[in-house]
Amino acid sequence: MALECWNMLLMLLMLGFVRHTAMLSFRQRAELLMKNTSLIDGHNDLPWQLMKRVRNDLSAVDLNTWNVTQTNLQKLRDGLVGAQFWVAYVSCAAQNKDAVRRTLEQIDVIKRMIEMFPEDFHPATTADGIVQVFRSGKIASLIGVEGGHGIDSSLATLRMFYELGVRYLTLTHVCNTPWANSSRVDSGLVKPGGQGLSHFGKEVVKEMNRLGMLVDLSHVSKDTALAALDVSAAPVIFSHSSAFTLCKNYRNVQDHVLRKLANNSGIVMVNFYPKFISCEETATLSEVADHLDHIRRVAGPDHVGIGSDFDGFGRGPVGLEDVSKYPDLIAELLKRNWTEIDIKKLLGLNILRVFKKAEEVSKQLQKTNKPSNAVISQDKVQRTCRTFLGSLSAAPLCTSHIINTVMIIVSLLIITL
Ligand SMILES: *[C@@H]1O[C@H](CO)[C@@H](O)[C@H](O)[C@H]1NC(C)=O
Ligand SMILES: *[C@@H]1O[C@H](CO)[C@@H](O)[C@H](O)[C@H]1NC(C)=O
Ligand SMILES: *[C@@H]1O[C@H](CO)[C@@H](O)[C@H](O)[C@H]1NC(C)=O
Ligand SMILES: *[C@@H]1O[C@H](CO)[C@@H](O)[C@H](O)[C@H]1NC(C)=O
Ligand SMILES: *[C@@H]1O[C@H](CO)[C@@H](O)[C@H](O)[C@H]1NC(C)=O
Ligand SMILES: [Zn+2]
Repeated sequence: MALECWNMLLMLLMLGFVRHTAMLSFRQRAELLMKNTSLIDGHNDLPWQLMKRVRNDLSAVDLNTWNVTQTNLQKLRDGLVGAQFWVAYVSCAAQNKDAVRRTLEQIDVIKRMIEMFPEDFHPATTADGIVQVFRSGKIASLIGVEGGHGIDSSLATLRMFYELGVRYLTLTHVCNTPWANSSRVDSGLVKPGGQGLSHFGKEVVKEMNRLGMLVDLSHVSKDTALAALDVSAAPVIFSHSSAFTLCKNYRNVQDHVLRKLANNSGIVMVNFYPKFISCEETATLSEVADHLDHIRRVAGPDHVGIGSDFDGFGRGPVGLEDVSKYPDLIAELLKRNWTEIDIKKLLGLNILRVFKKAEEVSKQLQKTNKPSNAVISQDKVQRTCRTFLGSLSAAPLCTSHIINTVMIIVSLLIITL
């Protein structure tokens, strides 16, 4: 009798629960999902805004409320962001110049930003670390380097970035490196050609696999993406790209690359930049959801994620103006009948799977492979102001020095004549 009563009570409670969830709005269900499964965003350019606007002087702004950017602490909390790859981006203008130093400065500002807000941010460098930090109620903070020019064709520099906590490298930005080509090649802005990854480029990918650093193919040319997919022993990511079929911009991923990516077990994290969503100056939340739908359909639900690119562009889509708006996007997907498991995969489970696999591959490779000694041949890099490898006595060959010297001689000649 007593047992039956309990069973009745239990059934009534369960019925109440079922009715309760059925009555929740899409937005409320989205919030419940995001409180359970960490949103891991693949790409945020707040560090670039810090460089651009305040020369990385963190004391000049209050990140709790800073409102000239799409990202601040209040908005991150409202948006239920669980983990963020903060991006150390350095312009292509620094290639063959001070790109390594500038990249280090962006890594430094990310680390200082994380330390400045210990109640809100906590560093993470592993997949398990992300889950732990999320459980503690803080925002897991990771570092990605955007632009292969940042390693200056040096695997030693790549390894030291890993030591500093960098967990992905975007192989190119908008410029070709001596070993990988950017998507500008596909746009016809630069003449096409080559294999996409040179011999040294393949060594870069292999060394990243050995280290456990994710290979990011956003910004690279189609041939470079295909070559990297062939070479990489670990799943790769597109940290901030959308679907080419819906907006024919070469920063987006083409369907046959999506299929190949699925075979590699990798992931495309969808970029919100209106120019990549609608190919226009403006776009809407619903159009972003269309890109998520498309990639889920073509690559599969295991290969799609979110890499907003917030603070890397001017105005966000209507309804997705800043980092506080993610729950509205998840609500839209619920409205479109995405299953809860597919939404959890999109939010974070997919990138966690990719990251974990990259860690396993790295563990395996380190049993057999030593750090790579591969170097790029000197004729492949511009030698402006570079010293020669392995020679202490060689003078720097610096074009600007040569030009200066020639100018001085010419002026002296003019004066004496
Ligand atoms: C999320 O939900 C699953 C299944 O209900 C549960 O096992 C897990 O502990 C939850 N995680 C968090 C962080 O709430
Ligand atoms: C941003 O903050 C400044 C100073 O706190 C305030 O004057 C301004 O109105 C705010 N702008 C927006 C768009 O909220
Ligand atoms: C990149 O493209 C150029 C032509 O624009 C080509 O000459 C070069 O070989 C390509 N590089 C790689 C690594 O494929
Ligand atoms: C799919 O991946 C496997 C290895 O995981 C590889 O052997 C095979 O060639 C790939 N297929 C395609 C079409 O890329
Ligand atoms: C979602 O599913 C419901 C119930 O099965 C259906 O009525 C609705 O048309 C579906 N919506 C979409 C966008 O597929
Ligand atoms: Zn970018």
